Amino acid sequence: KETGLNFTPYLHLFQDFWCPTDYVHGVNKFQKHFDAKDNDVFVASFPKSGTTWLKALTFVIANHQRFSSFDNHPLLSSNPHELVPFPEFMYSYDLHDQILSLSNMSDPRLLSTHLPFPSLPESITKSNCKIIYIRRNPFDTFVSAWEFFTKIKSVSLPEFTLEEAFEKYCNGITMFGPWWSHMLGYWNESKTRPNKVLFLRYEDLKEDTVFHVKRIAEFLDSPIIQRGESSTVIENIIKLCGFEKMKDLEVNKSGSIFDVVEKKTFFRKGEIGDWINYFSPSMIEKLSKIIEEKLGGSGLSFKVHS
Ligand code: A3P
Repeated sequence: KETGLNFTPYLHLFQDFWCPTDYVHGVNKFQKHFDAKDNDVFVASFPKSGTTWLKALTFVIANHQRFSSFDNHPLLSSNPHELVPFPEFMYSYDLHDQILSLSNMSDPRLLSTHLPFPSLPESITKSNCKIIYIRRNPFDTFVSAWEFFTKIKSVSLPEFTLEEAFEKYCNGITMFGPWWSHMLGYWNESKTRPNKVLFLRYEDLKEDTVFHVKRIAEFLDSPIIQRGESSTVIENIIKLCGFEKMKDLEVNKSGSIFDVVEKKTFFRKGEIGDWINYFSPSMIEKLSKIIEEKLGGSGLSFKVHS
């Protein structure tokens, strides 16, 4: 049992990852009872890597035939986390109605997970369902997590200084950590099963959104690509899911989600390189060393400046 950046007071080392207290029994139930369908699509990530953005994009791309109007789109009135929910959360908090409603979701079901690859239910790893994973450079991910978790006031999180939280992060002790194993699990799977796992970098998505939106659409066999839809459609998708647009929507400005998190905290700066405002030279040196130690030779590379 440990403390670390998280939304419950404690983290437990469980199945080789740091699992929030409330999730331990839920993950077991999720693994045992969740029944994946071949056409399910999972958005997977380590927290604070761009999950909300990827959920929005995936929802719009996968549902383009159902919701082709960009003026009256569900994303304008619902937060991406409401449209693409986390089943592990439902199992962890015994949300029976939501668990039941999973079987009535329209196809393809769009769901999400923060679990490391080896802890996914077998029905996800063994079925033909698809996973889109997003990862972000560990510098920005840490700062985003620091800003996010220290804003969650309604749970009695132990008080950390930035330096203490950073030490934990360097030791892999944060929700669903270590972050290096999380990335490696999905990275390795994406190499052996590229039709199963699409591996994206937040920084690439920011820098060439058109190209990566097309990659997502191709991966999902979306009619957007099959029909060679005009570039206006792609541009509209990108605009609708863009940081400024999402942040300014009434639905994302007030209210909370998962009971404890204000929706607006999911939209902070949305930049590459904000870490520079938080890191001391020794922190930069330490994290760079850990990245080399843990991920050197894996083929994973990080872009840390815009
Ligand atoms: P910052 O805290 O650096 O601003 P997650 O969705 O996994 O919780 O990640 C949150 C991070 O993604 C936050 O980063 C947030 O601002 C950023 N983000 C949210 N929506 C985004 C969007 N539409 N485009 C780009 N970044 C976005």
